[in-house]
Amino acid sequence: KPNIVTCTAPVNIAVIKYWGKRDEELILPINSSLSVTLHQEQLKTTTTVATSRSFQEDRIWLNGKEEDITHPRLQSCLREIRRLARKRRGDGDPSVDSTGLSHKVHICSVNNFPTAAGLASSAAGFACLVYTLARVFGVEGELSGIARQGSGSACRSMYGGFVQWIMGKKDDGKDSLAQQVEPETHWPELRILVLVASAERKPVGSTSGMQTSVQTSSLLKHRAESVVPGRMVEMIEAVQRKDFAAFAELTMKDSNQFHATCLDTYPPIFYLNSVSQQVISLVHRYNRHYGETRVAYTFDAGPNAVIFTLQQHVPEFVQVVQHFFPPETNGGQFFKGLPVNHAA
Ligand code: DP6
Repeated sequence: KPNIVTCTAPVNIAVIKYWGKRDEELILPINSSLSVTLHQEQLKTTTTVATSRSFQEDRIWLNGKEEDITHPRLQSCLREIRRLARKRRGDGDPSVDSTGLSHKVHICSVNNFPTAAGLASSAAGFACLVYTLARVFGVEGELSGIARQGSGSACRSMYGGFVQWIMGKKDDGKDSLAQQVEPETHWPELRILVLVASAERKPVGSTSGMQTSVQTSSLLKHRAESVVPGRMVEMIEAVQRKDFAAFAELTMKDSNQFHATCLDTYPPIFYLNSVSQQVISLVHRYNRHYGETRVAYTFDAGPNAVIFTLQQHVPEFVQVVQHFFPPETNGGQFFKGLPVNHAA
């Protein structure tokens, strides 16, 4: 009889961006980063893992299609979880079902949003995979170091609320872990809107994009060494004070610097499109109109805008967006009207 566990993990949105690795295999970053994890019910991955004595081999299905289980990052996560499970069993923990340890797994994972469109699908995906595998094999405790080996940003989706991924210094990556800065209850007025400019797959994935940036961009080196450390401190303080203007300005500046390092990469990488640029202008005009920072944007490796604002400004800002981007302008593509996500 198979043992079956299903879990969900939400997407996280970085406000201080991770871009660039110092170790490709262990996935160790060149700078720390900070993100906000969405509410469980919004953008999320759902993963079911089954183990059974009768399974011949490990297998995985993503959004209904079987994928290659030999993918190195998948193998790292599977290997690390099994290693921890075996270690606990070796330590004589009776709660670990020792018979299941040698069993093969079948994994099914589905997203409720477009995959690889710059909506951080790998983050929720690997966070969910690692968490679900851990449940199946009876592993507990710190798991962000394993999720990190699936996809860097995934380590931050292991926690809710405001989460930092501390870059760490060690070569073995043992100190490169995610840590909650504030829980999901800390700032209940904060809201996140996702404006879908394109649900297509991105032309340059984050993994290869950041490799080229590390090799060619001196701006990225400057950013990692001299800009991000100070910004991490300021961002954590802004979150703790619930200072929206400070949070918003740092968020926009960090998104802009990330995209500047993409342009500084050779050959350059363009993730923003003309719709993204119009959203940026609109946000600045909106804030200028009120003489205060009420709305912020951030963009990852794709053209879709993620908007941060406070609850009381949501209805008006949504109206403004719908006025300037009526659904028909982009074949109905632009404003998908994804629901207002409660941040964390
Ligand atoms: C722009 O975590 O997808 O979203 O570690 O190679 O899997 P890998 O990259 P990934 O990169 C995310 C980059 C980003 C910024 C961020 O989420 O911090």
